[in-house]
Amino acid sequence: MKSVVDILDLSKEELASLMATAMDIAAHPEKYSDKCKGKKLASLFFEPSTRTRLSFEAAMMELGGNVIGFAEERSSSVAKGESIADTVKIISLYADIIAMRTPKEGSALVAAMNSDIPVINAGDGGHSHPTQTLADLLTIYKEKGRLDNLTVGFCGDLKYGRTVHSLIAALSRYTAVKAVLISPDELRIPNYVKYEILEKNGVEYVETHSLEEAIPSLDVLYMTRIQRERFSDPTEYDRLKDTYILNPEKLINARRDMIILHPLPRVNEISVKIDSDPRACYFKQALNGKHMRMALILMLLDEAAKNREREDLLAGKKLVYNKYRCIGQRCITATEQELEHIFKEIDPERGIYRCIYCEKKAVIAK
Ligand code: CP
Repeated sequence: MKSVVDILDLSKEELASLMATAMDIAAHPEKYSDKCKGKKLASLFFEPSTRTRLSFEAAMMELGGNVIGFAEERSSSVAKGESIADTVKIISLYADIIAMRTPKEGSALVAAMNSDIPVINAGDGGHSHPTQTLADLLTIYKEKGRLDNLTVGFCGDLKYGRTVHSLIAALSRYTAVKAVLISPDELRIPNYVKYEILEKNGVEYVETHSLEEAIPSLDVLYMTRIQRERFSDPTEYDRLKDTYILNPEKLINARRDMIILHPLPRVNEISVKIDSDPRACYFKQALNGKHMRMALILMLLDEAAKNREREDLLAGKKLVYNKYRCIGQRCITATEQELEHIFKEIDPERGIYRCIYCEKKAVIAK
């Protein structure tokens, strides 16, 4: 069962396909309005969210499906001590796909390991947030026309910033991407991202404290919030919270074609005066997120249906033995005479059965 726990669960080809589908959805929403008819999304949010939760829910509704779920832990039985594993086992009985956000790092992986339906990680603590990366990639692609050959500045909380970790992992697979990591010492990028993603993939990077010095070199500036909820010491948060504030003065030396992204929510780190600057793309980014989530739901449900077909086949369901013959010259049954001729039901009413080996249509056995 394919789930998306980490952005690297999606290949570059799958990312390209998701972006193409998302752009088609944006251009022709009517084509997609009943693609998920009869399907249910379980929207399991154990941590606050505006964009991710509501865009997932809007995505499923715009695909013609339905949504069940909760928006806070205390309205689920996890508040009574139920494990994530048991929770998703139960929800697999009621829904077709899960989008789940929790404050616990690794819980999306635990969910995927225990679920009979696809699980999408909608953010697990300070670890990763792959569907935000889908929104980020589509925004960069639409605004810059490419995902290769970019200098991307990541500014703010790079330690707990799950969106940063996932976007760096995704971009590290493209050519000639450079990362400029702008943070206070206390919020530097974790070593696993530095050594196992950036260095392992040969991505050029520099670490700096200075947004002013970094900004002239950037094609993309990815601002992030200093996240109060990740600090155990409130005085540390108060000391660091306004380290970076992007305002019109700071943009004076930025390129005219640099784009400004932010996963949102913002607090103080981008002045509202920037919102009218043509380089500000963070609201478009939030809309792109909905289209990418629609594309992802479609892709995962399609894969799940194919998996179920394969499982049914392997379990011998919907198979017809020896009533038909395969006449494919290159089919294994042409040379291995003792093999049973086995067909899968495609459309019995119209008499369509296909050989399980070569997929040719059946002819009645003589
Ligand atoms: N970007 C993002 O994850 O926003 P929410 O926390 O509002 O979902």
